[in-house]
Amino acid sequence: MAQAALKPELSDEPVSTGIDEAAREKIAQALSAILTDTYYLVIKSHIYHWNVVGPMFHAIHNMTEEQYTNLFQAADDIAERIRALGHKAPIADAAGPNQAVVSMDASAKSAHDMVADLIDDHEAAIRKMREAADMAEEMSDFVTHDLLVGRMTYHEQVVWMWRSLITE
Ligand SMILES: [Fe+2]
Repeated sequence: MAQAALKPELSDEPVSTGIDEAAREKIAQALSAILTDTYYLVIKSHIYHWNVVGPMFHAIHNMTEEQYTNLFQAADDIAERIRALGHKAPIADAAGPNQAVVSMDASAKSAHDMVADLIDDHEAAIRKMREAADMAEEMSDFVTHDLLVGRMTYHEQVVWMWRSLITE
């Protein structure tokens, strides 16, 4: 999973929605890390979409296409939630996702190993989202909590489908 998080920039926007400034900053930072994971999965799913070979080609080719399409839309939703919290949408820096992409070993795997790798990444993303959802609810940010519950629902379904594909 991607190590480097996109860094949110503090904004001067006078948000007064009942979530204090410190809480909004913490939630924006957590969402930025989730945005990084989401983009990382967009790219990795795309690479496997192109490079998968073997008897599972058709299933993996089609499932990855559905997933990178969903994940790309989700990245937009996550970034726009960061904006609604009064923070700038994060901008990649030198230690950000470009570096993660360069170090991504996504091309020389069997179809089974590609799916197992995606399961690992989706589960890591879910664990991070669960922590952030818990924190958002504690800080009365029910909108972020709701967004993350929706994303976890999707990722958990994806994990179930991938496991079903490779379980003998
Ligand atoms: Fe395609």
